[in-house]
Amino acid sequence: MKNFQKSLTLILFISLFACKNSTELVNNSKKDVAIYTKIDSILSQMTFQQKIGQLQQRVIKKIDDSLKNEIRNGDVGSILVNLKLITDASVRNKLQKIAIEESELGIPIIFGQDVIHGYKTMFPISLAQSCSWDTLKVKKAASIAAKEATTLGIDWTFAPMIDVSRDPRWGRIAECYGEDTFLNTQFGIAAVKGFQGEDVSQPDKLVSCLKHYVGYGASMGGRDYQYTEISKRSLHETYLPPFEACVNTGVLTVMSSFNDISGVPASANKETLRNILKDKWQFPGFVISDWDAVEQLIYHGYATDSIDAAYKALNAGIDIEMKSNTFKKMLEEKIAINVLNDAVKRVLYVKLKKGLFKTPYVDENRSKTDLLTKEHRLLARKLASETMVLLENKNSILPIKNKPLKISVVGPFSKEKNLSGWWRSNGNKDDLVVPFEGLLKNAPNNIKIIDKVNSSTDIIIACVGEEYSMFGENNSRSSIELPNKQSEYISSLKKYNKPIITVVFNGRPLNLTSEKENSNALLIAWHPGTEAGNALADVLFGNVNPSAKLTTSFPAATGHIPVYYNHRNSGRPKYNSYKKESTAPLYPFGFGLSYSTFKYDNIKISSKDILENDSITISAEITNISNIEGTEIAQLYVQDLVGSTTRPIKELKGFKKLKLKENETKTVNFTISTSDLTVLNENMKPIVEKGRFKVWIGPNSNNGLEETFNIK
Ligand code: NOJ
Repeated sequence: MKNFQKSLTLILFISLFACKNSTELVNNSKKDVAIYTKIDSILSQMTFQQKIGQLQQRVIKKIDDSLKNEIRNGDVGSILVNLKLITDASVRNKLQKIAIEESELGIPIIFGQDVIHGYKTMFPISLAQSCSWDTLKVKKAASIAAKEATTLGIDWTFAPMIDVSRDPRWGRIAECYGEDTFLNTQFGIAAVKGFQGEDVSQPDKLVSCLKHYVGYGASMGGRDYQYTEISKRSLHETYLPPFEACVNTGVLTVMSSFNDISGVPASANKETLRNILKDKWQFPGFVISDWDAVEQLIYHGYATDSIDAAYKALNAGIDIEMKSNTFKKMLEEKIAINVLNDAVKRVLYVKLKKGLFKTPYVDENRSKTDLLTKEHRLLARKLASETMVLLENKNSILPIKNKPLKISVVGPFSKEKNLSGWWRSNGNKDDLVVPFEGLLKNAPNNIKIIDKVNSSTDIIIACVGEEYSMFGENNSRSSIELPNKQSEYISSLKKYNKPIITVVFNGRPLNLTSEKENSNALLIAWHPGTEAGNALADVLFGNVNPSAKLTTSFPAATGHIPVYYNHRNSGRPKYNSYKKESTAPLYPFGFGLSYSTFKYDNIKISSKDILENDSITISAEITNISNIEGTEIAQLYVQDLVGSTTRPIKELKGFKKLKLKENETKTVNFTISTSDLTVLNENMKPIVEKGRFKVWIGPNSNNGLEETFNIK
């Protein structure tokens, strides 16, 4: 009897534990009934070892018999594509054939790779892309990347990265869409839609992966891989919203991050992975750990050894382990069956959604027609020119006028080929148009381009910046000055007494105090990708009128970091933050010049009072008061003046890109409803607080026409 009671207690305990840990996937999506029926049928035939095989992503070092045998045995659910080994689609198809035809259950492998801002045609880095404030073009760039990457048989990309980041020392700031939650949300959605399309099972679409879940952008001191101190409020208000919105958009996979979140590693964090992502948001896809992140739980001091790490990660909600091999050390009897089955179901769900069971092989000929096409290069050129942010243009030196001129294009980046950032997928630096070449090719007939400064030089274009290896993963910097004495180099050019146009190729906000002073024009070109030189020529010669605006503040000193526009106020807002030094950014969030001049007038509000669940429209007139057609990015900001918790001094709630002919006026309208103004109260409950609000429509976070309204 005692024994019976003991086993009853044990069964009860296991099922309670299991229920708490499982996410009822089957209830998730009624339209996926057929998929779940198929999943159940496969699952019922799977052994423990075959299930674990699905939860393993291999980083292969060679394609040999041992790998082939592992595939045959059902031990390889996924492969991280190494482009040196998987050189064309036929290699990928051959590996897939083993899985389909020679493994017992014929479950296809899913092939993943970092296709971040292009595959062969390289687009600007993600931080630059956000400065276009053009979600349609960003979506299109992602769909081109998908079209190109699938020619090799890549099924899945580890993008977009939507880690809000406010620390320019952190190298990975280049990979996100800037410092603002709303913008990371908008561009995250655009990228997911671009990669996955309407129907991800189409041969030219990629499964998308949100990363890094979550809080990686808050790495302590901007040092990569570090722990984070994130309050519950900032987790929910700043870091989680882009992920939630993209889950609602239908993203199929999520990658857990390296950092710990205030004491619990993100890759074993049950609260964020299981409770929030899987249970609350009902995310139906799978979560992959970042590279070795499961094994790294040992170094975090969260697991005693790799077996302990595996149990902790799986129970918390990691479904696939990237690179490390800890999952296969787990014992069947020590895992709640529905935790294990839930993970496997999610993997099968994504493979079925991608259509890998129906169409496991890819067309081996598409790479002959679908790479680096004219259309792809054209978008790369357009997007790059629309991401270059003009910060200074003294006496309207730009655009360069079409008259007899000798222009010296100099500086360490004038002939640099590595201008595609840290992630390049299959991009080839030899396909990139370098700045000098682009300016030479596109210069009007009257203008001579030379690569030295001499006595006959009329204008100097100084190309400076950061090499691709100075930003990106594990490339943080303790200072945000221009590296390698390039500021001194620009000052040294002053001896020629000619106008200096400084073009910066960078991956993070930099302190450009000295460049601001020493340059007649200052242009942030970021790492623009394949069409770098052509896009630069379009902007400098005026074929494209710059419209990009910063999505990350440029601090005036490294010591000011963090500098971001939507901070909360102090009790003494007028006091300098440091002795006699303000921490105002050198260039604020949302800032960027055009060759046109825009004037904002006549802000109007449809009603001074909004009732709960209602909306109001705020409008303003924008006039292009110059004689050149241009594009303006108008921004809407809101401040909740008094609340039960303190709120940021401004929060971006909308933006619109408007094309305006010379002297043309357009009215820009924004509608906000009270749900857009939802905040978390002291108990972290979402509420709409009554009271007074300020609202601005303006050209950047520092300027704008102001109105007020009340929520009644
Ligand atoms: C580690 C990086 O953090 C992640 O962003 C990337 O997707 C994986 N490695 C795979 O390369």
